[in-house]
Amino acid sequence: MSVLGLASSRTAAAIVVVLGLVLSLGVVCNGGKTSSFVRRVEKTVDMPLDSDVFKVPPGFNAPQQVHITQGDQLGAAVIVSWVTVDEPGSSTVLYWSANSKKKKANGKITTYKFYNYTSGYIHHTTVRNLKFNTKYYYVVGIGHTERKFWFITPPEVGPDATYTFGLIGEPMTQIRHYSLRIKPPEGTRRLFVGDLSYADHYPNHDNVRWDTWGRFIERSVAYQPWIWTAGNHEIDFAPEIGETKPFKPYSHRYHVPYESSGSTSPFWYSIKRASSYIIALSSYSAYGTYIPQYTWLQEELPKVNRSEAPWLIVLMHSPWYNSYNYHYMEGETMRVMYEPWFVKYKVDVVFAGHVHAYERSERVSNVAYNIVNGICKPVKDQSAPVYITIGDGGNIEGLATNMTEPQLDYSAYREASFGHATFDIKNRTHAYYSWHRNQDGYAVKADSIWFFNRFYHPVDDSTTAEP
Ligand SMILES: [Fe+2]
Repeated sequence: MSVLGLASSRTAAAIVVVLGLVLSLGVVCNGGKTSSFVRRVEKTVDMPLDSDVFKVPPGFNAPQQVHITQGDQLGAAVIVSWVTVDEPGSSTVLYWSANSKKKKANGKITTYKFYNYTSGYIHHTTVRNLKFNTKYYYVVGIGHTERKFWFITPPEVGPDATYTFGLIGEPMTQIRHYSLRIKPPEGTRRLFVGDLSYADHYPNHDNVRWDTWGRFIERSVAYQPWIWTAGNHEIDFAPEIGETKPFKPYSHRYHVPYESSGSTSPFWYSIKRASSYIIALSSYSAYGTYIPQYTWLQEELPKVNRSEAPWLIVLMHSPWYNSYNYHYMEGETMRVMYEPWFVKYKVDVVFAGHVHAYERSERVSNVAYNIVNGICKPVKDQSAPVYITIGDGGNIEGLATNMTEPQLDYSAYREASFGHATFDIKNRTHAYYSWHRNQDGYAVKADSIWFFNRFYHPVDDSTTAEP
């Protein structure tokens, strides 16, 4: 055999080996399930401003856009927020339970300007020292038009407190999809993974949309606390119109109890609620080494006491594991920074939004890579969280339907539909998670899994996904 012949046969053998590897990789990597459900393509239309759901409540200086969130780290306080437009009015909240006298809490008023828009009077009042597991009534608008609402406080933090969270991302203002998620079949507290009003979608970031969205969600968030995470549509950075302070409308309107968890910023913080420890992170604030968010999270994770709050949940906007061709790899730099910690501290689940579709991962990690070793493939890891993308609340940009192919084995289930999910904590070892697609006006269960707690019951739960 000539030298040339020897070289060409070696080349041919190499090609066969490489082809074989590629083909076998294709088989190995072709993992999870891509739903066969295909949502009918339809025009994406935001609800018009004169829709009933945006109506201003009647009466002089009537409180509008009423919303509540947890007001301390343990769930014994609630931040009540609302807007008045005629005059500042009172920031007092009158509140009581069936077994208590009426009490008053006083708060503060803030306003802001954004280009040619001036906000109403935004009230934030924290009601403290509440009893756990108790229904409270509250009234705002004292002295003018009073409006009454209620909320139920969570059980005291403890390992066996049962609790259900609803999960949602995106503003839900697309006409055909709003009703199911605003009025869920069961009253749940919401973990919201970012992108609220989409005001930045309109000319000059029309801040009137922040007001209409606030009135739209009031029917839920005045009664059920929503736990906020900032998304990219909250940045409202618009130097072309002189608006250079990121998050200005969002941070004036939506307060969170960040100081009670030692955070110096409302964009990253933690709360405990029943048997869960919830950490909200900011995909759109600096997160590198030595930076405030980094040092806070570094100190925060060792504080998580799983024997007190077994379920460690992280909220962020931009997903780390996303196999759609939208926002692909946007979460990668934050993953590189924080994923080793998530594995070390055994986070149970990470919820993200941003991608307008649904996806659930297996428990995987990708933390071995160190620049020189070339090990950069996600591998199954029972110390790692499940990553769930739930950016499917509905919005004017429509669905993300284009997926990377083949579906890699870390991706357990994906579907381009609008939907919502619940995370139902049964006890310290088990939680039942289910995602429902909103199919032509009905909620249809499409994906569900039993979560086994990583601290109390860290056995493989990846095979428990129902067909
Ligand atoms: Fe987003």
